Amino acid sequence: MKKIILSVVSISILAMVLVGCGAKPASSNDDIIIMGTNAEFAPFEYREGKEVVGFDVEISKKIAEKLGKELKIEDMKFEGLLAALEAGKVDFVIAGMTKDKEREKQVDFSDSYFLSSQLITIKADDTSINSGEDLKGKKIGVQLGTTGEREARDIEGAEVISFDKGAMALVDLANGKIDAVILDAEPTKNYTEGNDDLRVLDEQLTEEEYCIAVPKGNKELLELINLTLKEIQESGEYEQFINKYF
Ligand code: ARG
Repeated sequence: MKKIILSVVSISILAMVLVGCGAKPASSNDDIIIMGTNAEFAPFEYREGKEVVGFDVEISKKIAEKLGKELKIEDMKFEGLLAALEAGKVDFVIAGMTKDKEREKQVDFSDSYFLSSQLITIKADDTSINSGEDLKGKKIGVQLGTTGEREARDIEGAEVISFDKGAMALVDLANGKIDAVILDAEPTKNYTEGNDDLRVLDEQLTEEEYCIAVPKGNKELLELINLTLKEIQESGEYEQFINKYF
């Protein structure tokens, strides 16, 4: 009886150890590499019909090509991306994601591939907001889990409303349900273009570097990604992608 109990115990310990090793590469299939993203962020990633396209997707295709693997895209909520990476559900995350100290505790980041900032959008006829200072005590829409949300939460007395999609925050702004939106510069321009009801302020609230996230300690993948980024700069492909999407 003791023996049986002992072996049951040791089997469960073994199982726990195996499970604990967790974070296996996402693609148990060696021919595939999985990119995690949130396709609500044009022109970096968005949907054209069923397909996810955009600047980040082009870069990912280059990474996959360099690895000799097929690219698979997992589109999910932005706030869940790093957890998915840690759990091994995706191999890397590219989502116009800003490198920051907090996230660096969880994952490793590539070299920066794009510089951006947070911009403020208001109703075109609103004369009460002319700078970030004027956002105190206002109702501000942001995308959940983003650096824009963090900025907004730092504003004194502001009521912050978090949306799954930045574009939805702009819709609520246009409908007068909120006073302002804080969102990354390029999506802001993209989603407000041609909308005369909205006005984007010139002030840049932040300076941010977009980087690609890989699981902590995966040096091999990180180096390959950095090399790919360097190569597409040198070959002129980076410039082509900019021209195509911006
Ligand atoms: N740059 C911001 C951040 O890192 C927003 C990124 C949102 N990206 C997206 N694909 N929805 O928090």
